[in-house]
Amino acid sequence: MNYIQQMAFSTLLSFTLFLCVLLPCFASSLEAKPISSLIRKKFFDTMFLHKDDNACPAKNFYPYKAFIRAAKTFPEFGTTGSLDTRKREIAAFLAQISHETTGGWATAPDGPYAWGLCFKEEINPQSNYCDSTNKQWPCFPGKSYHGRGPIQLSWNYNYGPAGKELGFDGLRKPEIVSNNSVIAFRSALWFWMRETRGTLSCHNVMVGKYVPSEADIAANRTAGYGLVTNIINGALECGIPNDPRVKDRIGFFKRYTNLFNVDTGPNLDCAFQKPL
Ligand SMILES: *[C@@H]1O[C@H](CO)[C@@H](O)[C@H](O)[C@H]1NC(C)=O
Ligand SMILES: *[C@@H]1O[C@H](CO)[C@@H](O)[C@H](O)[C@H]1NC(C)=O
Repeated sequence: MNYIQQMAFSTLLSFTLFLCVLLPCFASSLEAKPISSLIRKKFFDTMFLHKDDNACPAKNFYPYKAFIRAAKTFPEFGTTGSLDTRKREIAAFLAQISHETTGGWATAPDGPYAWGLCFKEEINPQSNYCDSTNKQWPCFPGKSYHGRGPIQLSWNYNYGPAGKELGFDGLRKPEIVSNNSVIAFRSALWFWMRETRGTLSCHNVMVGKYVPSEADIAANRTAGYGLVTNIINGALECGIPNDPRVKDRIGFFKRYTNLFNVDTGPNLDCAFQKPL
């Protein structure tokens, strides 16, 4: 190359590099954008209109920042599949944690589905949620494994493995799930992402990666938001027509998918599914 060619080349190169700041020129820029590009703070706060009300025990415990930080621990959450799939998964997650922590009631201001993330801890737990037959995750004396955090993580056999994977001692210090906002969101995402039987996880169900077994098909456990409800609390809520808890979960999902401007997908209910 002569001098002129070199000048022209380097100008072109710097122009290309400049453009690449603005446009996705390189393969790495084509990877799914982080979920913060789909759900910004203002949008998040619109979903959870009352989470920081004085009336909510979780006031200031569930900031947007903590959710985004926790999501980085699970890079596949909300980044898998088409744009609609990604939005639908995020809406489903936020809807389920909203039901788990709701402070809403039928005639609540802004409607019952504007009150997610109002509680951080189960009130009046009826037991310490210790399954003493579980030897892999033994309960620590005096500790209670009642519902805490956005998904209301419960039982020693969930606190133990969640803590192990996320770097805290879930059996000795379960309180951290309702004392540390980022760990709280991480515990919920841990539950969401974890595969139990085969490909069964809330995440896989929402992004189309769940492959039902023959038994699942016979039990009507086909993919959809209803199956996510079944994973979370099916033993108590599924296979029952018109269960108000299931209805509440669906109500949040409808409001959030509507805000995201995405459809809900099929099989919203688990009334006709056999519980998991
Ligand atoms: C941690 O949580 C427990 C209950 O879960 C609460 O009693 C305690 O005050 C909290 N500690 C801090 C430092 O927030
Ligand atoms: C599957 O769903 C149908 C209705 O769609 C219902 O008649 C049937 O009993 C369900 N099967 C099970 C195992 O729940």
